[in-house]
Amino acid sequence: MRQQIYRLDSSDCTLLLLSIDYAIPAVAYYGSKLNSQIDAKTMFALSGDAIPNAKLDSRTQLSLLPENSHGFFGEPGLRGHRNGRNFTHRFTVENVEQSADHLCISAHDIDAGLQLAIDISLDAQSNVFCWKHRLTNQIETPYTLDYLACPTLPVSLPMNQLTTLHGRWGKEFQQQTVELAAGKFQIDNRRGRTSHEHFPGMIATEKTTGELSGKAIAAHLGWSGNYRLMIDNISEHQRYLQCGELLLPGEVILKQNQSYETPVLYTTKTSGGLSKVSQQLHQYARKNLLPKWTRTTRPVHSNSWEALYFDHDMDKLIALVDAAHATGAERFVLDDGWFVGRRSDNAGLGDWQVDETIYPDGLHPLVDHVRSKGMQFGLWFEPEMVNSDSTLFRSNPESPLKHAPYPLLPARNQEVLDLCQPKLFEYLFHSMSILIEEYKIDYIKWDMNRDTLNAGADQQASQHKQIHAVYRLMDALNKKHTGLEIESCASGGARVDFGVLQHTGRIWASDNIDPIERISIQHGFSLFFPPEIMGAHIGSKIAHLTGRQTTLDTRAILALQGQTGFEFDSRKLDDEERVTVKHYTDIYKQNREWLGESLLWRLPSIQNCLHVRGMVSQDQTQSLWTVVSDGSHLQATPGKLTLHGLAPEAIYEVTCLNADLPYLAQFGKAMPLWMDSNSLTLSGELLMQLGFMLPYMPSQTALLLGCRVAGTKQ
Ligand code: GLA
Repeated sequence: MRQQIYRLDSSDCTLLLLSIDYAIPAVAYYGSKLNSQIDAKTMFALSGDAIPNAKLDSRTQLSLLPENSHGFFGEPGLRGHRNGRNFTHRFTVENVEQSADHLCISAHDIDAGLQLAIDISLDAQSNVFCWKHRLTNQIETPYTLDYLACPTLPVSLPMNQLTTLHGRWGKEFQQQTVELAAGKFQIDNRRGRTSHEHFPGMIATEKTTGELSGKAIAAHLGWSGNYRLMIDNISEHQRYLQCGELLLPGEVILKQNQSYETPVLYTTKTSGGLSKVSQQLHQYARKNLLPKWTRTTRPVHSNSWEALYFDHDMDKLIALVDAAHATGAERFVLDDGWFVGRRSDNAGLGDWQVDETIYPDGLHPLVDHVRSKGMQFGLWFEPEMVNSDSTLFRSNPESPLKHAPYPLLPARNQEVLDLCQPKLFEYLFHSMSILIEEYKIDYIKWDMNRDTLNAGADQQASQHKQIHAVYRLMDALNKKHTGLEIESCASGGARVDFGVLQHTGRIWASDNIDPIERISIQHGFSLFFPPEIMGAHIGSKIAHLTGRQTTLDTRAILALQGQTGFEFDSRKLDDEERVTVKHYTDIYKQNREWLGESLLWRLPSIQNCLHVRGMVSQDQTQSLWTVVSDGSHLQATPGKLTLHGLAPEAIYEVTCLNADLPYLAQFGKAMPLWMDSNSLTLSGELLMQLGFMLPYMPSQTALLLGCRVAGTKQ
């Protein structure tokens, strides 16, 4: 028997793959970094399992692409056929190329006429591994591909806690943790976008894993279309994790020499708990995925949507710009309602020309005013959509994705355009480019407000191609308009993933900006995504989606967990509120540079209803901590808060940065002693070991604490 071992090391992790007799390798080890070397023979001896009764007579491996022909009875990594033939396969490794951070294994199955490339790369610093497969049809008969998974990975049995994220419009990224048992845990998304319903990521942990310690493996599929995520448990191989794109029937038929490539599966492992998992993913995304502009000073937004909705009146808009500017806004974003026929959400999508009935001089008077204030200008688009009441639809009734003769099923009165039609793609590219150039648009809020059904073109499924066309359109615009920033919004957070992040760089995580609802939304988001790319706007006193009334302090403190901005109507602020908003935008501006590279710590709950998180600068000199209450704590007072991630020997000053401390003080007889002077000077060690008392925090209150090395500015 011939055994071959392949090894990749990141700063904290080692991956060992073992191939036996040229079969597709299996993960022999993926865990904490090993300092020792191990040869293939020893690895083979260690991995060779017992052969139990009532099973195959030979040993089987859980390979990166598990094959039935190698004795695998679970979900094969590849399903496809040639008109019913070649329904199974058995690949042989033919070539391997390796560098320190990249491994490419090619294998073929001559009988099946298929070639497979297994591509594994890693970012050593962040400990994130990237896995993908590419399948090529090598012979003349077309090969119908039903499913090609990304590399399949083992998950050890003690890692039996699975965290995933789910939701709906207005309640995205809700964390669910279940205990894995026998059988399969599976998420299928067929909504034609990443979806509100499920997020394409999962984190498996041990029972004892918490935010600050314990083993965890996170896996995220960077794809904005249909997908399947699964963890299965079969008796020969214990547990395995598999993710891939969900293809519609007949969607990918490979002709000779044509290839299909899976989306990338990103994984990261740690024994340092969930906050560490997030830090690794954040660092990876910052360095490898996000557009460069996300690393520049992130401006404070003022968005027109909740302030004016479709009421686009020039005087009101100008007044809104003035008021927003006075409290610190640096970029004004004109949301939905500016283009031809768009007086409500019934009409206009697709007609990307300024509506001259409400803007007789185009957007120039507004844009000029915005610029005169030294602010940037952003504009809302929903390029993939069309209303039947639009010139685009009337002149191109064949423009939506569909399967004739089945009827279109509108959602928000709109249909999804077939972006693979070259004339539509060109039309969108040109009409958007004209506006971007004419108004020197700095930023686009790119929306996508419906799920896709019957995603067909010419009677053939086209969902896979559609997603690539969306990415291409974003890329074409990014390329032509250097410096343009695109935000990904899809009825809030229905398109948030590492795939779209390579073309966009800001995320509208939810339309729900009720700060109490935002606690769990922002918590879930933060598991995978860095805080600085999340638009987090301060809403009105009464939240539009929930009717909940909260203080400005609470709303602003939650908004400081991301790229802050305003969704409220700035014109309606009273003098006191204006001062408060200015107070918080100033804090954001003073800290945003280091916040954009910070390490996020979510601390274990100190009371049932208190949520604590901190953003700590890479050099550990600065940090901002938020404590938010979404209920009543069980104890009479919350007790002590101990911080995390500070330098033990450094001396820090802690200050409460709430604008309205008396508001909090009124709920008790006295505030904690240290808050009498609102300043605490302590070593990092004492802050992390002894901690300090928190004030009484009734429901819907929030505390903002600054903690910086004494003598530095915050
Ligand atoms: C979606 C977005 C909102 C807003 C509206 C405009 O719902 O999520 O933020 O832009 O569209 O129609």
